[in-house]
Parts: sequence; structure tokens; C-alpha cells
Amino acid sequence: MAGSHDAPPRTLEGPLEVSPEDWSTKDFYHLMTALVIPRPIGWMSTVSASGVRNLAPYSYFNLMGSDPFYVAFGSTGVKDTVTNLREVPEFVANIVTMHVLEQMNFTSGNFPRDEDEYQWAGLTPVASAKVRPPRVGEAKAHLECEVVQIVSDRNTHIVLGRVVHAHVEPSVWKDGRVDPRLLDPVCRLAGSGYASLGDLFSVDRPEWKNVQGRDAREVMPRAVKK
Ligand SMILES: Cc1cc2nc3c(=O)[nH]c(=O)nc-3n(C[C@H](O)[C@H](O)[C@H](O)COP(=O)(O)O)c2cc1C
Repeated sequence: MAGSHDAPPRTLEGPLEVSPEDWSTKDFYHLMTALVIPRPIGWMSTVSASGVRNLAPYSYFNLMGSDPFYVAFGSTGVKDTVTNLREVPEFVANIVTMHVLEQMNFTSGNFPRDEDEYQWAGLTPVASAKVRPPRVGEAKAHLECEVVQIVSDRNTHIVLGRVVHAHVEPSVWKDGRVDPRLLDPVCRLAGSGYASLGDLFSVDRPEWKNVQGRDAREVMPRAVKK
């Protein structure tokens, strides 16, 4: 199918139909990162073979499975994080919450490989339980991971990591679980845009025995504001 526009139009009179090859990489990147939102941020802690620490945020990041538990994150280009993971295949995905938004952003600077982002950003490296890279002491939760595979396609490098340990601060724990309001995660939008959690809802999962033979409008579980 032919694309409807050969560049992002200022206003859209009809629906947009576009494939990656129709636009410049930069324009398509802006479209993709504005559509897949909000994204959580994995603040990735790694070490080089010689023991130099590295810390950098990745918002092409998510939980990928639960038996066993996997996370994945994507690097555009071989950055220090991927270089380190090829040497020491272990990382910590520090969970980014609102109180460390500015420090997290600061560590995205293109610092030389032998510079310590913890020092520049005023962060505290704390020994991890099962992996060599340290945790960010200021983060409220951490996932320690072992790299199982790095899938590379041209300039995209997707790191698949098996979760081997999790750590959670008491300050975000309530009634037997992590409370999303207490956690207060940073949600990444496009470019330099971020959001914090707004209204929270719950919706029950549908059960076939309640749905079968009935009008969907009557049996569809309702979203309830919490
Ligand atoms: C919030 C945020 C999210 C980012 N997400 C990604 C990402 O998913 N993939 C990527 O390649 N770069 C991402 N970047 C840019 C990297 O953090 C940046 O290139 C950094 O210098 C990489 O560090 P490293 O070379 O130490 O790995 C992001 C930057 C910010 C501020």
C-alpha cells in the first residue's frame, strides 16, 4: 500500500498511512515514540571487563515474560551499555521514579566510556545481590538480570535478560504489594516529555461463563476509578 504522506504533515485532513521507508528515520522515530506511550524506563547499570561502572536510561524497555521472568531493552547503536554487556553479561534495571527524574536524565549524556555517571549525577552505587553491576542506591526498586541473548538487526540491538533477583524499598510497599502511587514511576512520552501517573482504574477480567450468549454491552466489566 502506498503511503498517504511523504513527510509528516502539519495538519492531517485524512488518515495517515505510512511505512518506515516512506519517511526519514528521524520523522518515523518521532511518530513511533509518540504512539507507544507511556514507556517505563529501565535505568541500566552495567560494568566493563575492567570494572568501570556505567549507568544509562533506556525506555525501549519492558517485562517480556513470567515463566521465567524476562525483561528486554533496545539500544539504537552499540552504546557503552551493550559494549559492557558483551564483556560482562549482567545488568541491573533500576526502576525510575519521579524523585530521580532529573538525575536519570543527566546520565543519558554521552559521557566518555571511562567516566563514572554515578559520580557526575551524585548517585550512590550499592552492591547488588546476584550480579556484578551495582544498583543505584537512590532507586526504590531494582531488577537484577542475566543476559540470555542480544538480538541485532542493523542498528537495533535488543537485549534479552532473565530476572534473577528483585529488590524493593519499604517506602513503596503497602497491603502486601507495590503501591503504584507510592512507587510514582516516570512514564516516558516522546522526546523530552514525561508524565507521572494520573487517575488509576481497575477493570475485572471477563469470564466466558458470564459472557456466553449475552449482549457484550451488558456483561463487559466496567472500569472503576480507584
Ligand atoms: C529517558 C530516556 C530514555 C532513553 N531510551 C533509550 C533507548 O531505549 N534506547 C537507546 O538506544 N537510547 C535511549 N536513550 C539514550 C541513551 O540513554 C543515551 O544514548 C546514553 O548516552 C547511552 O548511554 P551508554 O552509552 O552509557 O549506554 C534514552 C535517553 C533518555 C533520557
